[in-house]
Amino acid sequence: MSRLRISVGSSLVRMALLVLFLAFGMAGYAADLKIEIAEAQWELKPGLRTTVWAYGGRVPGTPIRVRQGERVKIEVVNRLPEATNIHWHGLVLPNNQDGPFVEIRPGASHVYDFIAGASGTYWYHPHRMPVLPQLDRGLYAPFIVEAPEDGAYSGDHTYVLDDWFLDVRGRRLEGVAAGDMERYGNVETVNGKTEEAIAPLILRSGELHKLRFINASTAAFHTIAVSGHTFRVTHTDGHALAQPYDSDKITLAPGERLDAELFAAGKEGQRFEMASGRRDLGMVIPIVYDKGRVPAMASPFRAPRPRALLSGPPGRPDFTLELSSAMGMMGGGGMMHGGMMGGGSAMRWTINGKAYPETLPLEVAVGKPVTMRIYNRDMMSMMMGHKMDHPIHLHGTIFQVLSINGSPPKGELWKDTLPVPSGGYVDIAFEMTNPGDWLFHCHIIDHEDGGMMTVIRAK
Ligand code: C2O
Ligand code: CU
Ligand code: CU
Repeated sequence: MSRLRISVGSSLVRMALLVLFLAFGMAGYAADLKIEIAEAQWELKPGLRTTVWAYGGRVPGTPIRVRQGERVKIEVVNRLPEATNIHWHGLVLPNNQDGPFVEIRPGASHVYDFIAGASGTYWYHPHRMPVLPQLDRGLYAPFIVEAPEDGAYSGDHTYVLDDWFLDVRGRRLEGVAAGDMERYGNVETVNGKTEEAIAPLILRSGELHKLRFINASTAAFHTIAVSGHTFRVTHTDGHALAQPYDSDKITLAPGERLDAELFAAGKEGQRFEMASGRRDLGMVIPIVYDKGRVPAMASPFRAPRPRALLSGPPGRPDFTLELSSAMGMMGGGGMMHGGMMGGGSAMRWTINGKAYPETLPLEVAVGKPVTMRIYNRDMMSMMMGHKMDHPIHLHGTIFQVLSINGSPPKGELWKDTLPVPSGGYVDIAFEMTNPGDWLFHCHIIDHEDGGMMTVIRAK
């Protein structure tokens, strides 16, 4: 104690500390960013413009790219007519940096300051209730934390998928389409562009590219098939798979991310594509072969260290949750949270029979692994012929998937967003590393806003 006081008191030491602070403290920011949130005009394709809300005037918003372990400082300025905030989906952060409980009023600004931990493909979006009107207007952007091996690829490409509900002149339509319970679009975009405005992926024979897909849609699942090639899926939600797998088709639920390697097996002059099953809505990424070839590139991917919390389904889970839905006026009584949903369907979406904020917080101890079984018993939806997988998402940590409908995944699987199959269930295990109230919700934003959300209280 006294020794410390003497050292710090010496001016020489003070000077040295100041120099160290300047060298490692201030210069230690990988990114010192400023993001303005404002209304903007955005061209989805030539002749189709729409009014958006955007991070940094573009859709997707200002991309953030840092290296693992770097410190990030981001000043956010709100020029919207209403309050907002930013949530860093998938990043494990101290509770006060996570976002949902921050309020940035119109004209105000807020500084986020945190360390970007584990490498991976993440994204950011608003998290102020109701989330739908803000996220759906174009407020989303990639947040990439680079791993050392990422630089070894011939190219590293991010594809943010979204859908828009517009009239033919590009004006935003409100609510949901006739017959829908969620807000689905009639124009689908890749990186804010549709149809011929989507930038082609340019390859040379022999190259190996890294592709990062992010589903920023509020309700739509996207399935993308590649022609003449095979995706080698290496990461889910940013986390390296113990067993990467090959597929010519990938599906992403809202909020999910998936990284894949694409080996350029084609030849100069050939053309292929990566296209959604609903290709008439415009989500087609052309693949174009450039001149020349390179010696076939090998994958720099390395399997992650095992770090399983549990090796199989839990005997008896610590928590059991049931996802369901009800008509607004049935069950619970009184006013429904959030009022009439979407186009006027009075659905409310529940966890263990309650809609947020009436859902009961689940208490967990920091540093202690817990297991959870989540059932999707959405009887109302099933009866109405509306089978829904609910992509549940956990803030504050990542979870290990122990089973889907009782079958363990092939190899250790870590995620932060996972579709719970209609009529089925999943088992997960996680450990909270930071204290605080952490949200747990369906990432179909209509369902989240409509009540399918609860709090995990870590102490
Ligand atoms: Cu991507 Cu709680 O959200
Ligand atoms: Cu999140
Ligand atoms: Cu849902």
